[in-house]
Amino acid sequence: MALRKLIAGNWKMNGSLGALAELDGIAASAEANPGVDVAICPPFTLIAPAVQRQPGLAIGGQDCHHAVKGAHTGCISGDLLREAGATLAIVGHSERRTDQHETDAEVRAKAEAAIAAGLVAIVCVGETEAERDAGSALAVVEGQLAGSVPPLGTGETLVVAYEPVWAIGTGRTPSVADVAEMHAAIRAKLNGLLGGEGAKVRILYGGSVKPDNARELLAVADVDGALVGGASLTAALFVPIIEGGAAVG
Ligand code: 13P
Repeated sequence: MALRKLIAGNWKMNGSLGALAELDGIAASAEANPGVDVAICPPFTLIAPAVQRQPGLAIGGQDCHHAVKGAHTGCISGDLLREAGATLAIVGHSERRTDQHETDAEVRAKAEAAIAAGLVAIVCVGETEAERDAGSALAVVEGQLAGSVPPLGTGETLVVAYEPVWAIGTGRTPSVADVAEMHAAIRAKLNGLLGGEGAKVRILYGGSVKPDNARELLAVADVDGALVGGASLTAALFVPIIEGGAAVG
């Protein structure tokens, strides 16, 4: 089943109020390519100004605390993200799993909190280079899915992003065959975890997606979109990726 593609940008700790000008070209491309969904996840402080600048563009957060509110200095809740105008939240990005030591159970709790707040949760998984070299990439990712996918997730509320850690920000990507193998394994696992909804959950590929490789990666079976870091920071690089998705979508 071909799912509607989602091309999502993760600005990480980059951008500025001035950089929101890039959203104009991105929003124009989203409008010109209605066959794909487009979203940008900027830093928290830029969410409300981003929504104000381009109300038609989906804007997301890069994390979501598992609690509804309380004494959690420096954290952000799903309700606060919603109030700022976000409609999605990335959870369990490998940078947070590493820097903030987030566990699968925490990631699942965050995804559940995001969904409870009315957000679409983008749950990230992916192996390290050592794990791939050891031949355990599939097992690692299946384990992360078992631990971090919310059991009540649906095609409407949940997106999974496969981001091999060694491909993030390195200019390296897995081969098309490796992406196909991993996405098929993720689909099978989601079918097992979510029953009939498993077939409806979009599986994004992330890690050094650029204008020159986007189309090839997005054409792979069970690649239902992309999660883009560096190349989402400018319309000049992100728009060709949106167009690549639309061409193969
Ligand atoms: P790059 O596209 O910069 O490799 O980052 C990928 C990523 O981590 C998106 O979440």
